[in-house]
Amino acid sequence: MKKLRVGILFGGRSGEHEVSLLSAASVLNAIDKNKYEVVPIGITKEGRWLTAEHAQNLLAGKLTQEPRNLRAGDPQTTPGAAVLTRGEAVVVPPEPVQRQSGLVPFQSDAGPLRRSSDRAIDVDVIFPVLHGTFGEDGTIQGLLELADIPYVGAGVLGSAAGMDKDIMKSLFIAAGIPIVKHVTILRSAWEKDSRKAARLVEQKLKYPVFVKPANLGSSVGISKAHDRKELGPAIEEAAKFDRKIVVEQGVGGKKSKAREIECSVLGNDEPVASIPGEIVPIKEFYDYDAKYLDEGSQLIIPARLTKSQTKGVQELAVRAFQAVDCTGLARVDFLMDPKTGKIFLNEINTMPGFTSISMYPKLWAASGLGYSQLIDRLIQLGIERHADKKKNQYSR
Ligand SMILES: Nc1ncnc2c1ncn2[C@@H]1O[C@H](COP(=O)(O)OP(=O)(O)O)[C@@H](O)[C@H]1O
Ligand SMILES: [Mg+2]
Repeated sequence: MKKLRVGILFGGRSGEHEVSLLSAASVLNAIDKNKYEVVPIGITKEGRWLTAEHAQNLLAGKLTQEPRNLRAGDPQTTPGAAVLTRGEAVVVPPEPVQRQSGLVPFQSDAGPLRRSSDRAIDVDVIFPVLHGTFGEDGTIQGLLELADIPYVGAGVLGSAAGMDKDIMKSLFIAAGIPIVKHVTILRSAWEKDSRKAARLVEQKLKYPVFVKPANLGSSVGISKAHDRKELGPAIEEAAKFDRKIVVEQGVGGKKSKAREIECSVLGNDEPVASIPGEIVPIKEFYDYDAKYLDEGSQLIIPARLTKSQTKGVQELAVRAFQAVDCTGLARVDFLMDPKTGKIFLNEINTMPGFTSISMYPKLWAASGLGYSQLIDRLIQLGIERHADKKKNQYSR
């Protein structure tokens, strides 16, 4: 039987470039090479699409070491970087390409090109192992839709909605999912009248509050403001990253911090939830350093919840997945008030960290689905989704 050709997209222009290298290295290591012909495709930080023979090292599983704590940018654990320095350019033309049946690799830069499709990637399905901007936000998904290539994960709408903390909240509210109180401020409104904007926040919320750029990830641009003095600088910081700023009621109040519960969801039209897990950040909150640099944050699987709390979290996770029209996979994150036990949905991540030691796959492993099988299932779901979409007609 002909092997399925799977393109693994990694790197990319986002701030989570290095995290993506780690995730992709894990996927390349674990994917069943008896079933799949794997085509690693790196995207540089500048946005060039590359592939290289050198990528074979990744396929052969020559990881210098197992990723430990998702150490962002650590060259020791990011061999994919080689593809990005020595690769040959490839493109995905934004037009459906007749897929080749043989094992024709994509063609290189050499020679005059008549059409962009002359050096098109020839794959059956793509796994965009990309996090954050231009990877998890619907943009890559849009390109793959135009090219008519099946892909793993959420579509354009689900990705875009799951990326935007303001839109996501509107969808959660509409679905009756509990979230913390929040205020969304436009950067332009802040610049025009910052006192008015601050008043708006203080009318609705009590300190401490969390200030976030609406569209980003990895805690970049997020701060906790404990009082009015800290609110201005926190908003200024978030405003560097987006034109929309979300200010939220801090869970846990002044004295304690929120408990952080996460749940993995898998599926298309009938999604299922994993056993929930819990993160105990080493810092006051789970900021960038605590996520990727400092060791000591703990993952607790399963989360320390009662049976009914567990069931509640799983139900909410599936509802959140459906509320943003997600497909394939998502990690749904919750904040729990440590005193009252009340649970709020914090966010959904449509392409969560995906190294073998990341929360998303670990929760599935704990639920009985191993890492390689998880990759199989995701590829299958991507192909099913594409086939389902093929049933649509676009005109009468
Ligand atoms: N409303 C909140 N109350 C308490 N802690 C919060 C709140 N919002 C965010 N945090 C803390 O900040 C971290 C990052 O926020 P999050 O919204 O998950 O952003 P990102 O998309 O960058 O992961 C969370 O993991 C948590 O530690
Ligand atoms: Mg988060």
